[in-house]
Parts: sequence; C-alpha cells; structure tokens
Amino acid sequence: MGDFASRYGAWALITGSSSGIGEEFARQLAKAGLSLVLVARRKKRLKKLAALLENDHGVQVRVAPMDLAADSFLPAIVSLTEDIEIGLLVNNAGFAITGALLDNQEARELEMLYVNCRAPLILTKKFGSKMAKRRKGGIIMVSSIAGFGAMPQWTHYAATKAYSLLLGEGLAHELQKFGVDVLTLCPGSTSTEFHQVAGVHGGKSMSPVAVVAAALRNLGKKTTHIPGFHNLLLASTGRFLPRRLNTKKGAFIVNHLCNR
Ligand SMILES: NC(=O)c1ccc[n+]([C@@H]2O[C@H](COP(=O)([O-])OP(=O)(O)OC[C@H]3O[C@@H](n4cnc5c(N)ncnc54)[C@H](OP(=O)(O)O)[C@@H]3O)[C@@H](O)[C@H]2O)c1
Repeated sequence: MGDFASRYGAWALITGSSSGIGEEFARQLAKAGLSLVLVARRKKRLKKLAALLENDHGVQVRVAPMDLAADSFLPAIVSLTEDIEIGLLVNNAGFAITGALLDNQEARELEMLYVNCRAPLILTKKFGSKMAKRRKGGIIMVSSIAGFGAMPQWTHYAATKAYSLLLGEGLAHELQKFGVDVLTLCPGSTSTEFHQVAGVHGGKSMSPVAVVAAALRNLGKKTTHIPGFHNLLLASTGRFLPRRLNTKKGAFIVNHLCNR
C-alpha cells in the first residue's frame, strides 16, 4: 500500500466515515499508520470507530459530527484541524435519491446536491490549496460508474456523480504540477448502507474492503479508477454508443439491476 504518512502527511480527513466505503477508508488508512479526522452526522458511530482505531493501530482520531448539507459546515472543520496538516482528503460522503425527478422533494434534491457536490468542492478548495503550497498531498473523490452516463430514475444522482468525476479529473491535471495526487474512484454497486438509504436493491455488489484497497493501490498511479472488471465493462461500453442510446442503457440498468 506504500508509506502514506511520508508521501502525503500524517493526517487524513474522510467524509462519510460512519459507514460503508468511508468507514473502510478509515480502517485501511489507520492500519497504514495515518491519524484521522472522521466526518459524518452519526456521532456515536464515529466515536466508536475512533476508539477502535486508536486502540488497534495507535493512531490519533478526531471526530467531526456534522451535516455536510448545512450551509456553514466548514468553520467547525477548520477549527478542529487548525493545528494539524491534512495530507490526504477523502471526499466520500454521499447518497442517492431515486424516482422521477419531478416527483421528488426539492429540499431533499438540494440536500443531495450539497452533500455530493458542494461539500467536496468546499473541502477540496480549503485543503487542496494548503497541499499545493506544501507541494505534497492527496485527494480522493468518490464518484461512481453512475457518473459515466445518464440514469433515468436516478437522474440527479448520476448528474452529481458526473460532477465529481469531472471535478476530480480536471483537478488531477491542475494539481499535478504541485505534486498533489488526485484519484477519482468510480465504484459500481458496493455492499454498504447506500442502497438501503436509496430504497433500492443493490444487485451483485463488491465489498467495500476491495473497493478501498483498489483506490489506495491506485492513488498516485492513475487519475481515475473503476474497481471490478464488470464495472469497468459497464462504464466503458457507453463510450462507443450515441448518447441517447447510452441513456437507454442507463434506464435498462436501473430497471434490471437496481430497481426499487
Ligand atoms: N454503495 C454503492 O453501491 C456505491 C456505488 C458507487 C458510488 N458510491 C458512493 O460511495 C460514497 C459512500 O457511500 P457508501 O456506499 O459507503 O454508502 P453509506 O454506507 O450509506 O455511507 C454514506 C456515508 O455518507 C455520510 N453522509 C450522508 N449524508 C451526509 C450528510 N448530510 N452529512 C454528512 N455525512 C453524510 C453517511 O453518514 P451519516 O449518515 O452518519 O451522516 C455515511 O457515512 C457515496 O458518495 C456514494 O455515492 C456508492
């Protein structure tokens, strides 16, 4: 996995670390010797995980229980991290709303936009500028294979993931000259609480352990990574289709693989 502390710095900040992929990032990075700042809403879970990781790996763990959809979440994170250098930022928190866009509650759609897009943008600007100045750092954007094409009934979620995909890929190019590695991770279906939150079935899923291990292996080597050969196939076939057909492919996948 490599020496993350010397490559990036002693601390990583992981959003959405109270469950699923984010929790697994916390476990694998603590095992690699990084101290952590854990961000999510469920305080009890964060504290329990923090105690476990401190005990098992001898690292320091700070918890930042907060809602990333809130207008002003940043000051609390800034005050919790002002005496440390965040060397690795994992923009992972996210969720999906499914169903017909026009029928969904606007407030909930905006919440998803804020968590999936606005929060990573704000955190990346905050910590990315410090990394660029230090000429050292790493950023992982957790996007999805859903970001490679429209997905009717998951329309806005796919759009938020296209946002993080392009944000991450563009940023990787911009930050290369500052020695900051940016990896955009595009998982397919993964066994987490994600599908339960979205109210759908996940179908064939990868384990978060494999997804996170693949991300950490590829950080600094690639700028985009799709874990799992079947996911690579799903995401790549769209490149050769006219866009309207690619959208039909998205609708087919929703109907057959991840229906309500
Ligand atoms: N699982 C999949 O099939 C899959 C596939 C592709 C991409 N992804 C992406 O992977 C990322 C992680 O999802 P997951 O699969 O690990 O799902 P998960 O188990 O549901 O975890 C989502 C995490 O995001 C946090 N979160 C949600 N809303 C938040 C808010 N308003 N403020 C702060 N934190 C919030 C949750 O914590 P709290 O509830 O405690 O706040 C939780 O820690 C997401 O960006 C998702 O889009 C997942």
